Amino acid sequence: MCAVDKTAIGFLGLGAYVPERVLTNYDLEQMVDTSNDWIVTRTGIRERRICAPGEGAVAIATESARRALEDAKLAVDDIDLIICCTFTSETLCPSAACQVQRNLGATRPIPAFDLAAACSGFIYGCSVAASFIRSGVYRRVLVIGVDAISKFIDWSDRNTCVLFADGGGAAVLGQVEEGHGLLGQSLGADGSGADAIRLLSSGVADPFSATAMNGHRSTITMNGHDVFKFATRILGTAVEEALADAGQGLKAADLDLIIPHQANVRIIESAAKKLKLPMDRFVINIDKFGNTSAGTVPLAMNDARQDGRLKPGTLFAVVAFGGGLTYAASIWRW
Ligand code: COA
Repeated sequence: MCAVDKTAIGFLGLGAYVPERVLTNYDLEQMVDTSNDWIVTRTGIRERRICAPGEGAVAIATESARRALEDAKLAVDDIDLIICCTFTSETLCPSAACQVQRNLGATRPIPAFDLAAACSGFIYGCSVAASFIRSGVYRRVLVIGVDAISKFIDWSDRNTCVLFADGGGAAVLGQVEEGHGLLGQSLGADGSGADAIRLLSSGVADPFSATAMNGHRSTITMNGHDVFKFATRILGTAVEEALADAGQGLKAADLDLIIPHQANVRIIESAAKKLKLPMDRFVINIDKFGNTSAGTVPLAMNDARQDGRLKPGTLFAVVAFGGGLTYAASIWRW
């Protein structure tokens, strides 16, 4: 935990993008030994989006970023830094961020890098962006949260293939009116749980090709029970730590909205119980999109904004957990 300077740093624009192809639970019933009932009851997921052949994290990141810039009424050359939070880019080098910079047509050498904190990535990225802005190094930072996990799924493993999906979102961060923006945060990692979610290698542009990785492609493995235990403990705790960091006597009950990582609706229900908040205070879109890792938080923020739930003055928390095991929460006033 670290105290946040009170310089007002907030969101100037927001955008999101998901691939067009829908994969329903009924489709999965044809692929593995599972059922729509089991997936809905145990996770809350009904359908998810999957990349088309040739589409990947970079394309999702580029379109999300383009929409966030449009929302902020800014051009790419107005941006001073691009951070792309992902662990499923098609290439390890170049970074997804550099490819987004090119795709957006930047004419300045805007610094760009990827940040890997799995599902906590977007909140970590916003924290890094806020630090650069607060210290006066940069004025406006584009933060993208995206994953294309379908590329790294073993489609015969029902433990993972029903959960993960593709999608993302982006935000432009900069100085906002006093009293708005970032109020407090809590970032953390528990490396003792490093083996709970693993992807041994990344950066395969075409993981389905027969020659990729000498015929062996890397896929995600997960110990669902260990992750579930960590998540139910950390989600509420991280929000409480971020509230304490914000100070001003802020309590969970003061939050208008909580925008959590969408991994399992039962994990969100347990956080609601711990924070003693009703479920209607939480933004939930896992039914439509599944777990898009670093993409879930900006996707859910974008949905909440479009539904009119996230509006000027809204006091809200974002919170996530994921591989690492990482976690992150922050408190904002829109
Ligand atoms: N479809 C149908 N049945 C399934 C199944 C599937 N996809 N996966 C497991 N099952 C079966 C199991 O074999 C077991 O059967 P049994 O009772 O006959 O032995 C039963 O369902 C219960 O399995 P269990 O693993 O105990 O289910 P669960 O309620 O713990 O749910 C997860 C499994 C993966 C959904 C849950 O552990 C979870 O969400 N973990 C966190 C994962 C996560 O958040 N990952 C992302 C982190 S960013």
